[in-house]
Amino acid sequence: MQHADSIIHNAGQLVTCAPGGKPKRGTEMLDVGIIADGAVAINDGNFVGVGTSADILLEFQSDEIIDVEGRVVCPGFVDPHTHIVFAGDRLNEFELKIKGAAYLEILANGGGIISTVRQTREASVETLVDQSLARLDKMLAFGTTTCEIKTGYGLDTANELKMLEVIAELDRVHPIAVVPTFLAAHAVPPEFKESPDNYVDLICDTMLSAAWKWFVASDFHGRVPFFCDVFCENGAFSVDQSRRILETAKGIGFKIKAHVDQFTNLGGAKLAMDLGGTSIDHLDAIGDDEIDLLAKSDTIGMVIPTENFNAGKTKYANARKLIDTGCAVALSTDYNPGSAPCPSQPMAMAISCRYQKLLPSEALNAATINAAYAVGLGETVGSIEVGKRADLAIFEAQDYRQIAYEFGGDLIAAVYCGGVAV
Ligand code: NIG
Ligand code: FE
Repeated sequence: MQHADSIIHNAGQLVTCAPGGKPKRGTEMLDVGIIADGAVAINDGNFVGVGTSADILLEFQSDEIIDVEGRVVCPGFVDPHTHIVFAGDRLNEFELKIKGAAYLEILANGGGIISTVRQTREASVETLVDQSLARLDKMLAFGTTTCEIKTGYGLDTANELKMLEVIAELDRVHPIAVVPTFLAAHAVPPEFKESPDNYVDLICDTMLSAAWKWFVASDFHGRVPFFCDVFCENGAFSVDQSRRILETAKGIGFKIKAHVDQFTNLGGAKLAMDLGGTSIDHLDAIGDDEIDLLAKSDTIGMVIPTENFNAGKTKYANARKLIDTGCAVALSTDYNPGSAPCPSQPMAMAISCRYQKLLPSEALNAATINAAYAVGLGETVGSIEVGKRADLAIFEAQDYRQIAYEFGGDLIAAVYCGGVAV
């Protein structure tokens, strides 16, 4: 018998989401890899055995044997697109939007992202860490065990580096594992309002190399990728500006992401795919020819239905078509103070099933294994497989579909990060 630090057994459904070494696309997204009466053995923070309870209890012995009494056990969620480091709130904007104001109109008038930039620039590292830890706690309570976090509320070298410091500290002190993304190209800051190309120069000539230097000296280096993202949209960055930024970033060593087609199809999806982007995010206005390209590429298509829900929209990105065309689709909360104040991947799944017509199986794969690939960690997290980090969520449910079926509540019974109950 092999020794294990712990064994978790008697899962009515052990939902592995095991992908076979690559993101799930098309009909593969229907398969969540259920083991009935399943169990896992954990050693040194990783899964060392995955199988039926009978097999695992025969193969492994442990002083810590946990009986989950028929509950559902799933991989911890990966939330592959968040903006959780920020100061202040956008409650006034919430009311403006209820009264009919549009997101891009608020941004053009110096509100929206820019109002969060003003407040974030004034906040200290300590304040930002405290407030962001509270947000990570909420995400953990809903089952998230890995998340991506973007900068983008500093918009000058010092404040973007300050945000990176906060992100690194969050990773050090919180059980959720963090992947950093540099999003200096989130909006044009007020001081460059009349000369946006000069801000693009600053990003390309100074900020990207400063961020990369920071990354190389950080704890992240060698463990996780460092992404560069742009908001390619009217009132933010054009395709030409996005190209300059992403090409420069790629030359330095960054992996590529892009906010594209959230409101307007400018051609950013094709640009990011041409550059070998890891993910393209939002995709509400993506065109049919771009969907065909996406299906043939290694880029993950990330949909963000929390944004549409928050804006009270009735139109959503056509995730059904993306999957039916053979794309690998991931799901995120986009947790941020403006367009999506939502810490819950189960809520994103619930919305996606109703408005984007994903089945619960597709939504679960999108929020776990495909989300892991969307942050470059498909080989280490996002599914329950031998060798992966032992991140899992235990639900007060007998059927995994209940995670998307119920909404507004919390079915979590326990969450494990790296084999430790948190
Ligand atoms: O993904 N679109 C740009 N960025 C975020 C919103 C950030 C904010 O409004 O503060 C998004 O929706
Ligand atoms: Fe975003």
